[in-house]
Amino acid sequence: MCGIVAYIGPRDATPIILNGLKRLEYRGYDSAGLAVLQNGKIEVRRDAGKLANLVELVRQQPISGAPGMGHTRWATHGAPSARNAHPHLSASGRVVVVHNGIVENFLELKAELIARGIHFQSDTDTETIVHLVEGYAAGGLNLTEAARKTFQRIEGAHGIVLMSADEPDKIVCARIGNAGGVVIGLGEGENFIASDIPAILEHTRRVIFLESHQMAILTREGISVQTLDGKTLQPQIHTVAWDPIAAEKGEFRHFMQKEIHEQARAITDTLAGRVDFENGKIRLPELNLTGQLARRIERIYITACGTAAYAGMVGKYLIEKIARIPVEVVIASEFRYSDPIVNENTVVLAISQSGETADTLAAMEEGRKKGATLWSIVNAIGSQAMRVADGSISMQTGPEIGVASTKAFTAPLVDQYMLAILLGELRGTLDEAACRALVNDLRLIPDLVGRTLKREDEIKKVALTLKDMRGCLYLGRGINMPIAYEGALKMKEISYIHAEGYPAGEMKHGPIALIDKDMPVLCIAPQDPWREKMISQIQQAKARDGVVIAVATDGDERVREMADHILWIPKTPWMLSPVITVLPLQLLAYHIAAQRGLDVDQPRNLAKSVTVE
Ligand code: AGP
Repeated sequence: MCGIVAYIGPRDATPIILNGLKRLEYRGYDSAGLAVLQNGKIEVRRDAGKLANLVELVRQQPISGAPGMGHTRWATHGAPSARNAHPHLSASGRVVVVHNGIVENFLELKAELIARGIHFQSDTDTETIVHLVEGYAAGGLNLTEAARKTFQRIEGAHGIVLMSADEPDKIVCARIGNAGGVVIGLGEGENFIASDIPAILEHTRRVIFLESHQMAILTREGISVQTLDGKTLQPQIHTVAWDPIAAEKGEFRHFMQKEIHEQARAITDTLAGRVDFENGKIRLPELNLTGQLARRIERIYITACGTAAYAGMVGKYLIEKIARIPVEVVIASEFRYSDPIVNENTVVLAISQSGETADTLAAMEEGRKKGATLWSIVNAIGSQAMRVADGSISMQTGPEIGVASTKAFTAPLVDQYMLAILLGELRGTLDEAACRALVNDLRLIPDLVGRTLKREDEIKKVALTLKDMRGCLYLGRGINMPIAYEGALKMKEISYIHAEGYPAGEMKHGPIALIDKDMPVLCIAPQDPWREKMISQIQQAKARDGVVIAVATDGDERVREMADHILWIPKTPWMLSPVITVLPLQLLAYHIAAQRGLDVDQPRNLAKSVTVE
């Protein structure tokens, strides 16, 4: 979704905005623009395409001044073009807006405004906002009150920033519903707004997260946070622990490659402070889980989207096996409309890297409405999915910038493993020895991750043989069946090669007809309880001239003899094996996409956080 950056202070806003947008480019990028107040006039520069086009435009036609605001767009209404790029000016050119979200009643508002003689300059819904504000201002309201009236009229979910040439000492912003975050950065004699932390991390680590139906008025000296109906609030000020380097690529070619290689540390971080190896215990204090609640849980729904949903599918195996609680994984966009069977003994567990995915937040609201206990596993601190939950587990992996999620897939696998152990201990399904054994296995994981990633060069060679394939199948069983889905999604979303994840046992019921020498088959066959079944699967594929690439455990001679290529992993406790089996598949997709010269960090049509339905 769209990226927003705004600044008010003594410095020139232009470089601050452009650098901030660069760090948000992963959120959405089919056009970009910025506006600054220069010599009492709002100057705008906008262009279609990548942010680099805007940077070049500003180099050729410089603007400087403050306050200012900028925007990278992932189009919803109005084709990607300079004309539809944000910021959008009012008719007089004295008011300007950038916006994330959808004005759901924009047709009605547009008709009203046209009837009043307003000429629209774009095809966007956003433009209705700035014309409404100007209309209210013409009626005598100042920017804050004109904005407030406007926020109360528009329907849908929004992140909005406004400024006026007639009131150069302030910027007004608002968050309404779930259209992505609005983060306010507190500086010394200057203040910032961004849709995500990395955009302002180099300037400040002190931030305020606007909640839904809140607005803020920023001046150089301070911030006033209010409800939309004008009640002043005392918001919590958070200090971001991440360092600015965390939001940089470093020596890696892409953020995705960096984040793949961060996973050993990310898992160490997600374990930090939660594992008592000496006593074989797990502590998840932010989950607010009491023994009484643990014992009365009758069902857990895990709800999420995309990669996060596949992480939840692994969590199902772990929680059912260890804590013996029935778990159902329901894709968030389905859960919210499925009239789910929920009561006070139901838990709805949402998994979300961004914590702002519209479908996932809506699924949480559905669970809340029906009386469930809401939990969430989230990476982005201060995000909505963390705030609205009764208890949450922070992935603690640091910012994930690449659109294709990697460390925010493996971290929640470990988080759910810890959750399962805690639930099992509180419900008595795990005795002390069993608990200690499971906790001890966690000690192995960071090293196993590191050893697997060291095999990148072997995986790069396999990628070279597959990079021109027209499609492929990913097959897995049991706890590694979700890894088939996740491996296929990685391949689809960054290399644009069609890939299909399938429960291996299902192949003989139809899809096996697809297998021939041109349809490679990735078989996830580690030493887990389903290995024998996977060996039979490899035999079936080979019998049909299929090219088999197997994920196998070091030393597995039977698989070595049968498969055409092996992606080796070290011996791993089977309940944690998905954390390891996914790694070669992440690297395989990455190297195929990189060898195909594709835009790995910003795949076409995708955005990092899908904050619209
Ligand atoms: C993962 O590689 C994809 N980018 C996508 O499926 C993502 O996992 C999904 O949109 C959910 O995002 P979230 O974790 O931020 O909610």
